[in-house]
Amino acid sequence: MQQKEFQVKYEEYESAAELPEADATLLALARKATGDAYAPYSRFRVGAAARLANGEVITGTNQENASYPVGICAERTLLSVAGSLFPGVAIETLAVSYHNEQGASDRPISPCGICRQSLQEFEQRTGRRMRIILGGETGKVIGLEGSEVLLPLAFTGDELK
Ligand code: THU
Repeated sequence: MQQKEFQVKYEEYESAAELPEADATLLALARKATGDAYAPYSRFRVGAAARLANGEVITGTNQENASYPVGICAERTLLSVAGSLFPGVAIETLAVSYHNEQGASDRPISPCGICRQSLQEFEQRTGRRMRIILGGETGKVIGLEGSEVLLPLAFTGDELK
């Protein structure tokens, strides 16, 4: 038996003001996008913004449904937009933020497991890791280089070969 370990490296910023300018701009767009969310059930509005490798900037928001499981997260809405409008183009940086109508929005958002899986496959299919910025409306911000640390030992298409 061999004991193995993953090293999880991430950046923690005290606030968005500490971020490099390009990241701060994208996080501000994600925060603004929360206004476009359709979240009448959870009242937890999520916004995502991405700068693509071709320079385009896109956004995505959570889109809920009265049949709850039908709802889709902001991250996956954004990945669908990217894959549909700009097929094959990698994401350089993705920023995610939220507005909780029923409570505080003062710590970094944590993407759900399904989104982590989707982010990994998006990186794989475009052949490039993305920088990920996770924030709230205020408070600390997390920076990651690639989604792998969010989902170690992920299931991938390689398993299906
Ligand atoms: N949600 C996202 O859109 N992204 C996340 O990272 C976490 C959760 C959405 C799903 C649902 O519409 C609402 O937030 C509450 O879970």
